[in-house]
Amino acid sequence: MKIVKAKDYKDMSRKAANIISAQVIMKPNCVLGLATGSTPIGTYEQLVEWYNQGDLDFGQVTTVNLDEYKGLTKENDQSYYYFMNDKLFSKVNVNKERTFLPDGMEPDSEKACKAYNEIIASVGGIDLQLLGLGHNGHIGFNEPADTFEAETHCVDLTESTIKANQRFFASIDEVPKQAYTMGIKTIMQANKVLVVVSGEDKAKIVKEAFFGPITPRVQASVLQLHKDVIVVADEAALSLVK
Ligand code: GLP
Repeated sequence: MKIVKAKDYKDMSRKAANIISAQVIMKPNCVLGLATGSTPIGTYEQLVEWYNQGDLDFGQVTTVNLDEYKGLTKENDQSYYYFMNDKLFSKVNVNKERTFLPDGMEPDSEKACKAYNEIIASVGGIDLQLLGLGHNGHIGFNEPADTFEAETHCVDLTESTIKANQRFFASIDEVPKQAYTMGIKTIMQANKVLVVVSGEDKAKIVKEAFFGPITPRVQASVLQLHKDVIVVADEAALSLVK
């Protein structure tokens, strides 16, 4: 595991965008695993800027996102489908037909998860997986549990995740209680994993996840076993790490 220290959020975003750019330049038809949440927003902004300058071409790229809320329509501005279009897909030349997320409007969980597993298999695996880090160590929506779930599954979001995401909704009652998420095996099978973390409020979980014991209670800790992980974190997020 490689830890890259960034000065601040902007620096973290640039460094992460550099790594994604290198991937796209070296393999123009790569599969990018993408993430939502507030942390990667600056990374996407930087990629869009470089695309606008003519330095990046997403024309042959395929994307698979980590997760999606269950029950939100694509038009809902809190759905991850909406987020990805808003932050990246509508701003670069990616082929929309090559961008994939779990289908949050499929009420049959088994069907939705099976379909997404088939999509991930059909694109041939992930070259670079971008991840944020939840306050309880979740990656995607893999919440603390007794085991690591291998493939796409439906999760009941924890109280703390619902509370953390409340800020994006009008009230806590509107925050979905369930989501579809890519599983840990799929994430671990990505050739390269890039984790972005920012802010003092993440310092404790950074220490636990990347320097503590490997346990499904802190799902991100499993990344310590991956052969090629880069954590790009700012000074505040690394403040508890010696
Ligand atoms: C959400 C997402 C995760 C994300 C996490 C942290 O629950 N499903 O993929 O990494 O929150 O979000 P943030 O970056 O806003 O702290």
